[in-house]
Amino acid sequence: MGNVKSKQAGPSKKALTSCYKDCTALVKERKCAPILVRLAWHDCGNYDRNARNGGACASIRFDKELAHGCNAGLDGAMGLIQPLKDKHPGLSYADIIQMASAAAIEASGGPKIPMRYGRVDAETDAAVPIEGRLPDGEAPFGQADGACPGDKSEDPDPAAHLRRVFYRMGLNDREIVALSGAHTIGRAYKERSGVPTLDSTKYTAEGPGTKGGMSWTRDWLDFNNDYFVALAAGEKNADLLEMSTDAVLLTDEGFKPHALKYGESQAAFFEDYAAAHKKLSEVGSTFDPPEGVSI
Ligand code: HEM
Repeated sequence: MGNVKSKQAGPSKKALTSCYKDCTALVKERKCAPILVRLAWHDCGNYDRNARNGGACASIRFDKELAHGCNAGLDGAMGLIQPLKDKHPGLSYADIIQMASAAAIEASGGPKIPMRYGRVDAETDAAVPIEGRLPDGEAPFGQADGACPGDKSEDPDPAAHLRRVFYRMGLNDREIVALSGAHTIGRAYKERSGVPTLDSTKYTAEGPGTKGGMSWTRDWLDFNNDYFVALAAGEKNADLLEMSTDAVLLTDEGFKPHALKYGESQAAFFEDYAAAHKKLSEVGSTFDPPEGVSI
Protein backbone atom coordinates (compact mmCIF):
# COMPACT_ATOMS: atom_id res chain seq x y z
CA MET A 1 0.00 0.00 0.00
CA GLY A 2 3.03 2.25 0.53
CA ASN A 3 3.24 3.01 -3.22
CA VAL A 4 -0.43 3.90 -3.73
CA LYS A 5 -0.69 7.62 -4.49
CA SER A 6 -3.19 9.35 -2.25
CA LYS A 7 -5.85 11.43 -4.03
CA GLN A 8 -4.90 15.09 -4.27
CA ALA A 9 -6.61 17.06 -1.51
CA GLY A 10 -8.47 20.27 -2.28
CA PRO A 11 -9.63 21.44 -5.72
CA SER A 12 -8.73 19.32 -8.73
CA LYS A 13 -6.12 20.76 -11.12
CA LYS A 14 -8.35 19.72 -14.02
CA ALA A 15 -11.29 21.78 -12.74
CA LEU A 16 -9.00 24.74 -11.92
CA THR A 17 -7.46 24.72 -15.40
CA SER A 18 -10.85 24.43 -17.06
CA CYS A 19 -12.28 27.28 -14.96
CA TYR A 20 -9.27 29.51 -15.75
CA LYS A 21 -9.99 29.01 -19.48
CA ASP A 22 -13.65 29.90 -18.87
CA CYS A 23 -12.63 33.07 -16.98
CA THR A 24 -10.38 34.12 -19.87
CA ALA A 25 -13.16 33.51 -22.41
CA LEU A 26 -15.64 35.47 -20.26
CA VAL A 27 -13.30 38.47 -20.04
CA LYS A 28 -12.71 38.49 -23.80
CA GLU A 29 -16.40 38.15 -24.61
CA ARG A 30 -17.87 40.58 -22.04
CA LYS A 31 -14.96 43.07 -21.69
CA CYS A 32 -15.48 42.78 -17.94
CA ALA A 33 -11.88 42.57 -16.66
CA PRO A 34 -12.03 45.73 -14.48
CA ILE A 35 -15.13 44.82 -12.48
CA LEU A 36 -13.81 41.29 -11.86
CA VAL A 37 -10.53 42.73 -10.54
CA ARG A 38 -12.43 45.14 -8.29
CA LEU A 39 -14.68 42.34 -6.99
CA ALA A 40 -11.70 40.21 -5.95
CA TRP A 41 -9.90 43.18 -4.36
CA HIS A 42 -12.99 44.10 -2.33
CA ASP A 43 -13.33 40.51 -1.06
CA CYS A 44 -9.73 40.81 0.23
CA GLY A 45 -9.59 44.48 1.13
CA ASN A 46 -11.55 44.31 4.38
CA TYR A 47 -8.98 42.04 6.02
CA ASP A 48 -7.79 43.04 9.48
CA ARG A 49 -4.78 41.03 10.63
CA ASN A 50 -5.27 42.06 14.26
CA ALA A 51 -9.00 41.34 14.43
CA ARG A 52 -8.30 38.24 12.28
CA ASN A 53 -11.38 38.62 10.13
CA GLY A 54 -12.32 39.72 6.62
CA GLY A 55 -10.19 38.73 3.63
CA ALA A 56 -10.43 36.38 0.66
CA CYS A 57 -13.16 34.03 1.87
CA ALA A 58 -16.01 34.99 -0.52
CA SER A 59 -17.98 36.80 2.18
CA ILE A 60 -18.59 39.36 -0.57
CA ARG A 61 -21.16 37.00 -2.13
CA PHE A 62 -23.56 37.69 0.76
CA ASP A 63 -26.11 40.52 0.37
CA LYS A 64 -25.01 41.92 3.72
CA GLU A 65 -21.51 42.69 2.36
CA LEU A 66 -22.63 43.64 -1.16
CA ALA A 67 -24.78 46.31 0.53
CA HIS A 68 -21.69 48.08 1.93
CA GLY A 69 -21.41 51.48 0.22
CA CYS A 70 -17.96 50.72 -1.20
CA ASN A 71 -19.35 47.68 -3.04
CA ALA A 72 -21.86 49.56 -5.21
CA GLY A 73 -22.03 47.85 -8.61
CA LEU A 74 -20.38 44.61 -7.49
CA ASP A 75 -23.65 42.66 -7.45
CA GLY A 76 -23.29 42.65 -11.24
CA ALA A 77 -19.82 41.14 -10.91
CA MET A 78 -21.15 38.38 -8.64
CA GLY A 79 -23.67 37.69 -11.42
CA LEU A 80 -20.70 36.90 -13.69
CA ILE A 81 -19.16 34.57 -11.09
CA GLN A 82 -22.27 32.46 -10.40
CA PRO A 83 -22.35 30.63 -13.80
CA LEU A 84 -18.68 29.71 -13.28
CA LYS A 85 -19.53 28.28 -9.86
CA ASP A 86 -22.51 26.37 -11.35
CA LYS A 87 -20.22 24.84 -13.98
CA HIS A 88 -17.39 24.08 -11.52
CA PRO A 89 -19.17 23.13 -8.26
CA GLY A 90 -16.00 21.54 -6.84
CA LEU A 91 -14.27 24.93 -6.68
CA SER A 92 -14.94 27.41 -3.90
CA TYR A 93 -16.46 30.82 -4.58
CA ALA A 94 -13.37 32.37 -2.96
CA ASP A 95 -11.07 30.63 -5.46
CA ILE A 96 -13.26 31.48 -8.45
CA ILE A 97 -13.47 35.17 -7.45
CA GLN A 98 -9.67 35.39 -7.11
CA MET A 99 -9.06 33.32 -10.22
CA ALA A 100 -11.35 35.50 -12.36
CA SER A 101 -9.32 38.56 -11.33
CA ALA A 102 -5.96 36.96 -12.07
CA ALA A 103 -7.21 35.65 -15.43
CA ALA A 104 -8.68 39.09 -16.23
CA ILE A 105 -5.30 40.74 -15.68
CA GLU A 106 -3.46 38.23 -17.84
CA ALA A 107 -6.11 38.41 -20.58
CA SER A 108 -5.77 42.22 -20.58
CA GLY A 109 -2.03 42.00 -21.31
CA GLY A 110 -0.82 42.03 -17.69
CA PRO A 111 1.45 39.58 -15.89
CA LYS A 112 0.63 35.96 -15.10
CA ILE A 113 0.06 35.91 -11.36
CA PRO A 114 1.50 32.93 -9.44
CA MET A 115 -1.80 32.04 -7.79
CA ARG A 116 -2.56 29.29 -5.27
CA TYR A 117 -6.02 27.76 -4.90
CA GLY A 118 -7.89 25.86 -2.21
CA ARG A 119 -9.47 28.80 -0.37
CA VAL A 120 -12.25 27.76 1.98
CA ASP A 121 -15.50 29.73 1.68
CA ALA A 122 -17.06 31.57 4.60
CA GLU A 123 -20.22 29.57 5.29
CA THR A 124 -22.58 32.32 6.42
CA ASP A 125 -22.83 36.09 6.45
CA ALA A 126 -21.66 36.03 10.06
CA ALA A 127 -18.21 36.29 8.42
CA VAL A 128 -19.02 39.71 6.93
CA PRO A 129 -16.85 42.24 8.78
CA ILE A 130 -17.94 45.65 9.91
CA GLU A 131 -18.35 48.24 7.14
CA GLY A 132 -15.78 50.96 6.49
CA ARG A 133 -12.49 49.16 5.91
CA LEU A 134 -11.99 49.77 2.14
CA PRO A 135 -10.12 52.92 1.12
CA ASP A 136 -11.77 56.18 0.02
CA GLY A 137 -10.38 57.95 -3.04
CA GLU A 138 -11.10 61.42 -1.70
CA ALA A 139 -11.40 63.06 1.74
CA PRO A 140 -13.11 62.78 4.14
CA PHE A 141 -11.23 59.54 4.66
CA GLY A 142 -12.65 56.71 6.74
CA GLN A 143 -10.77 55.39 9.74
CA ALA A 144 -10.27 52.14 7.80
CA ASP A 145 -10.42 50.02 10.93
CA GLY A 146 -14.16 49.70 10.70
CA ALA A 147 -14.45 50.56 14.36
CA CYS A 148 -16.70 53.52 13.70
CA PRO A 149 -18.57 52.96 10.46
CA GLY A 150 -19.57 56.21 8.88
CA ASP A 151 -17.36 58.13 11.28
CA LYS A 152 -15.02 59.97 8.93
CA SER A 153 -11.52 60.97 9.95
CA GLU A 154 -10.51 64.61 10.26
CA ASP A 155 -7.14 63.62 8.79
CA PRO A 156 -7.09 64.91 5.20
CA ASP A 157 -3.82 63.15 4.32
CA PRO A 158 -4.40 60.51 1.61
CA ALA A 159 -1.00 58.88 2.29
CA ALA A 160 -1.85 58.31 5.95
CA HIS A 161 -5.22 56.90 4.87
CA LEU A 162 -3.65 54.45 2.42
CA ARG A 163 -1.18 53.31 5.08
CA ARG A 164 -3.95 52.81 7.65
CA VAL A 165 -5.83 50.58 5.19
CA PHE A 166 -2.98 48.57 3.68
CA TYR A 167 -0.77 48.20 6.77
CA ARG A 168 -3.88 46.82 8.53
CA MET A 169 -3.76 44.01 5.92
CA GLY A 170 0.00 43.49 6.32
CA LEU A 171 1.00 45.20 3.05
CA ASN A 172 3.85 47.73 2.67
CA ASP A 173 4.53 50.96 0.74
CA ARG A 174 5.88 49.21 -2.38
CA GLU A 175 2.85 46.94 -2.47
CA ILE A 176 0.46 49.91 -2.02
CA VAL A 177 1.97 51.61 -5.07
CA ALA A 178 2.13 48.47 -7.21
CA LEU A 179 -1.48 47.52 -6.42
CA SER A 180 -2.71 51.06 -7.11
CA GLY A 181 -1.48 50.43 -10.65
CA ALA A 182 -4.54 48.20 -11.14
CA HIS A 183 -6.30 51.48 -11.96
CA THR A 184 -4.56 51.29 -15.31
CA ILE A 185 -7.76 49.40 -16.18
CA GLY A 186 -11.35 50.31 -15.40
CA ARG A 187 -13.51 53.28 -14.62
CA ALA A 188 -15.21 55.07 -11.74
CA TYR A 189 -18.86 56.05 -11.86
CA LYS A 190 -20.72 58.98 -10.31
CA GLU A 191 -23.61 56.73 -9.32
CA ARG A 192 -21.34 54.14 -7.63
CA SER A 193 -18.42 55.78 -5.81
CA GLY A 194 -19.44 59.34 -6.63
CA VAL A 195 -15.76 60.16 -7.12
CA PRO A 196 -15.71 61.27 -10.80
CA THR A 197 -16.70 64.74 -11.87
CA LEU A 198 -18.02 63.56 -15.24
CA ASP A 199 -20.71 60.99 -16.15
CA SER A 200 -18.82 60.07 -19.28
CA THR A 201 -15.67 61.03 -21.21
CA LYS A 202 -14.38 60.80 -24.77
CA TYR A 203 -12.64 57.56 -23.76
CA THR A 204 -15.69 55.87 -22.19
CA ALA A 205 -18.80 57.24 -23.91
CA GLU A 206 -19.06 54.29 -26.30
CA GLY A 207 -18.00 51.54 -23.89
CA PRO A 208 -17.13 48.77 -24.72
CA GLY A 209 -19.42 47.12 -22.23
CA THR A 210 -21.23 49.58 -19.97
CA LYS A 211 -21.08 53.09 -21.41
CA GLY A 212 -19.72 56.06 -19.44
CA GLY A 213 -17.73 56.51 -16.27
CA MET A 214 -14.27 58.06 -15.96
CA SER A 215 -11.12 56.06 -16.56
CA TRP A 216 -7.61 56.69 -15.25
CA THR A 217 -6.06 55.89 -18.65
CA ARG A 218 -7.02 56.18 -22.32
CA ASP A 219 -6.93 52.45 -23.09
CA TRP A 220 -8.68 51.31 -19.94
CA LEU A 221 -8.99 47.67 -20.99
CA ASP A 222 -5.22 47.25 -21.49
CA PHE A 223 -3.18 46.29 -18.43
CA ASN A 224 0.12 48.16 -18.76
CA ASN A 225 2.09 50.90 -16.93
CA ASP A 226 0.20 53.83 -18.50
CA TYR A 227 -1.23 54.78 -15.07
CA PHE A 228 2.29 55.51 -13.79
CA VAL A 229 3.48 57.09 -17.05
CA ALA A 230 0.59 59.60 -16.83
CA LEU A 231 1.25 60.25 -13.12
CA ALA A 232 4.96 60.87 -13.68
CA ALA A 233 4.28 63.14 -16.65
CA GLY A 234 1.97 65.23 -14.47
CA GLU A 235 -0.52 64.99 -17.30
CA LYS A 236 -3.59 67.14 -16.73
CA ASN A 237 -6.39 65.77 -18.87
CA ALA A 238 -9.97 66.66 -17.94
CA ASP A 239 -11.15 63.38 -19.47
CA LEU A 240 -9.01 61.25 -17.16
CA LEU A 241 -9.52 60.60 -13.45
CA GLU A 242 -6.91 61.27 -10.80
CA MET A 243 -8.05 60.80 -7.20
CA SER A 244 -6.16 62.22 -4.19
CA THR A 245 -5.01 58.69 -3.42
CA ASP A 246 -3.57 58.41 -6.94
CA ALA A 247 -1.81 61.80 -6.91
CA VAL A 248 -0.19 61.15 -3.51
CA LEU A 249 1.81 58.26 -4.97
CA LEU A 250 4.01 60.88 -6.62
CA THR A 251 4.26 63.35 -3.71
CA ASP A 252 4.78 61.10 -0.67
CA GLU A 253 8.48 60.32 -0.17
CA GLY A 254 7.79 56.65 0.69
CA PHE A 255 5.63 56.04 -2.38
CA LYS A 256 7.37 58.21 -4.99
CA PRO A 257 10.45 56.07 -5.83
CA HIS A 258 8.20 53.10 -6.64
CA ALA A 259 5.78 55.16 -8.74
CA LEU A 260 8.66 56.67 -10.75
CA LYS A 261 10.26 53.26 -11.26
CA TYR A 262 7.00 51.75 -12.53
CA GLY A 263 6.56 54.71 -14.92
CA GLU A 264 10.01 54.02 -16.35
CA SER A 265 9.79 50.24 -16.51
CA GLN A 266 6.71 48.19 -17.26
CA ALA A 267 8.72 45.03 -16.51
CA ALA A 268 9.46 46.30 -12.98
CA PHE A 269 5.78 47.16 -12.48
CA PHE A 270 4.63 43.74 -13.71
CA GLU A 271 7.10 41.91 -11.46
CA ASP A 272 6.09 43.79 -8.30
CA TYR A 273 2.41 43.85 -9.24
CA ALA A 274 2.24 40.06 -9.68
CA ALA A 275 3.88 39.44 -6.29
CA ALA A 276 1.69 42.00 -4.48
CA HIS A 277 -1.48 40.74 -6.15
CA LYS A 278 -0.73 37.16 -5.10
CA LYS A 279 -0.17 38.31 -1.50
CA LEU A 280 -3.38 40.37 -1.53
CA SER A 281 -5.34 37.44 -2.98
CA GLU A 282 -4.44 35.31 0.06
CA VAL A 283 -5.04 37.70 2.98
CA GLY A 284 -7.31 36.11 5.55
CA SER A 285 -7.72 32.89 3.54
CA THR A 286 -7.73 29.39 4.97
CA PHE A 287 -6.37 26.89 2.42
CA ASP A 288 -7.29 23.23 2.05
CA PRO A 289 -4.74 21.73 1.56
CA PRO A 290 -2.74 24.18 3.69
CA GLU A 291 -0.04 24.61 1.01
CA GLY A 292 -2.66 25.32 -1.68
CA VAL A 293 -2.86 23.98 -5.23
CA SER A 294 -1.16 25.65 -8.22
CA ILE A 295 -1.87 25.19 -11.91
C1 HEM B 1 -5.29 52.41 -3.22
C2 HEM B 1 -6.52 52.60 -2.76
C3 HEM B 1 -7.71 52.49 -3.66
C4 HEM B 1 -8.73 53.37 -3.76
C5 HEM B 1 -8.89 54.63 -2.95
C6 HEM B 1 -9.61 52.88 -4.78
C7 HEM B 1 -10.78 53.51 -5.17
C8 HEM B 1 -11.53 53.15 -6.26
C9 HEM B 1 -12.73 53.83 -6.69
C10 HEM B 1 -13.35 55.05 -6.00
C11 HEM B 1 -13.16 53.21 -7.81
C12 HEM B 1 -14.39 53.55 -8.64
C13 HEM B 1 -15.57 52.66 -8.25
C14 HEM B 1 -16.80 53.02 -9.04
O1 HEM B 1 -17.18 54.21 -9.05
O2 HEM B 1 -17.39 52.09 -9.66
C15 HEM B 1 -12.25 52.13 -8.10
C16 HEM B 1 -12.33 51.30 -9.18
C17 HEM B 1 -11.47 50.27 -9.43
N1 HEM B 1 -10.49 49.81 -8.58
FE1 HEM B 1 -9.78 50.79 -6.97
N2 HEM B 1 -9.13 51.72 -5.29
C18 HEM B 1 -7.97 51.41 -4.62
C19 HEM B 1 -7.19 50.29 -4.77
C20 HEM B 1 -7.43 49.31 -5.70
C21 HEM B 1 -6.73 48.05 -5.77
C22 HEM B 1 -5.68 47.59 -4.76
C23 HEM B 1 -7.21 47.39 -6.86
C24 HEM B 1 -6.85 46.03 -7.39
C25 HEM B 1 -5.72 45.40 -7.11
C26 HEM B 1 -8.22 48.24 -7.47
C27 HEM B 1 -8.90 47.96 -8.63
C28 HEM B 1 -9.89 48.74 -9.17
C29 HEM B 1 -10.47 48.52 -10.48
C30 HEM B 1 -10.03 47.48 -11.49
C31 HEM B 1 -11.48 49.48 -10.63
C32 HEM B 1 -12.37 49.70 -11.86
C33 HEM B 1 -13.68 48.94 -11.71
C34 HEM B 1 -14.60 49.10 -12.91
O3 HEM B 1 -14.19 49.60 -13.96
O4 HEM B 1 -15.76 48.71 -12.79
N3 HEM B 1 -8.34 49.37 -6.73
N4 HEM B 1 -11.27 52.11 -7.13
